[in-house]
Amino acid sequence: MMENVRFGIVGSGYFGGGLAKVLSGLPHSEVKLVYGGTRAGKLAEELGCRQVLALEDMMNSSDIDAVIVATPSHLHRDPVILAAQAGKHVFCEKPTALSLIDCTDMVRACEKAHVQMMVGHSYYFIDGLLQVRRWVDEGVIGKPVAIHSERTGWESPQAVVSWKKNVETSGGHLFHHIHELDFLQTIMGPAIAICTAGGNLTHQGDGYGNEEDVLMLTLEFQGGAVGTMQYGSGFHWGEHFVKINGTKGAIRIDFKRSKIYLRKDGQESEHLLHRTETEDEERASFYRGMDGGIAYGKHNSEIASFLKGVMEAEMTTFRDCLLGCPIPGYLKSLFDGRAARSSIAAAEAAIISLKEKRWVQIGYN
Ligand SMILES: NC(=O)c1ccc[n+]([C@@H]2O[C@H](COP(=O)([O-])OP(=O)(O)OC[C@H]3O[C@@H](n4cnc5c(N)ncnc54)[C@H](O)[C@@H]3O)[C@@H](O)[C@H]2O)c1
Repeated sequence: MMENVRFGIVGSGYFGGGLAKVLSGLPHSEVKLVYGGTRAGKLAEELGCRQVLALEDMMNSSDIDAVIVATPSHLHRDPVILAAQAGKHVFCEKPTALSLIDCTDMVRACEKAHVQMMVGHSYYFIDGLLQVRRWVDEGVIGKPVAIHSERTGWESPQAVVSWKKNVETSGGHLFHHIHELDFLQTIMGPAIAICTAGGNLTHQGDGYGNEEDVLMLTLEFQGGAVGTMQYGSGFHWGEHFVKINGTKGAIRIDFKRSKIYLRKDGQESEHLLHRTETEDEERASFYRGMDGGIAYGKHNSEIASFLKGVMEAEMTTFRDCLLGCPIPGYLKSLFDGRAARSSIAAAEAAIISLKEKRWVQIGYN
């Protein structure tokens, strides 16, 4: 069994840099190599490790056991597959891929090489959302029958249009903010059919990317429950919440206020979203400045402490798995390809539905 896990970082921007710093602060964890991007040299210097100039040099290095892939989303596939072929474990940022076929190839390459592949769905590490999953599993609100989520906001023209705004590089809102499509399925079970309306209605021309800015989805889940979702940067009245209605009660996750509300037996109780009141207030104040849930970290953005806590929990889980600790049951789908494939399958089906103006069945097995 390993005593320390030695990591290589692929992609040295907002999240790659953030995860690298978290890993270098964890016990039994060392960041040894950094690759990719103009900031890689500076990050390596800051962490006291080595920059490599070719991806193959990282993958062939005997100095690392695992890689963190935090490149722009259309560039996840090659480093994940190369890492697997070189016998390295992989943590791959969300969205795993921009197509189900790529996602499946990545999962299968890791299975074939007998290396772990964990996907970066950070909602699994937000304490309040885990509490919601426990309430639902324990039947506190009965059987969930209808779910609704919104993640919307307004975006002004950008001086420099990020890769995060173009469909070819980010997949657009559905892929870039894949968290909701995955979270809804952790609560309601697998989505089996989807219907989408929308398009790029108000963000065309200089200063904008080409992603759809208004997306309205209807989902059907296995067993007959239903859901609706609104996504996009074409909403002047921005929102960020999930409402779960069950046969005996309801839950509202209010990301803007950073609180969770449970309604049951004629009473309503309020609960933390993050670990402490201070973290919740930090998140809420962040939203007061932006109106809605459409935000993009920049390569030099400071990582907020509520998010740092989430990243620490995520990286601790990955490190512990590589040290041989058992993976808790509620996190297994992050390691066996289910969370990756079910969410990418739903996002892909939603886009097909939008283009072909019809209901699309979601299948990924
Ligand atoms: N889990 C979350 O909540 C969360 C939040 C933000 C970003 N992310 C994900 O993290 C990934 C990176 O996003 P970001 O915000 O750090 O973007 P970013 O633009 O800040 O950083 C991307 C980095 O990758 C580098 N890069 C570009 N091409 C590369 C290549 N071919 N090989 C290696 N490196 C390359 C860039 O130079 C840059 O350093 C994305 O997949 C994004 O979706 C996840």
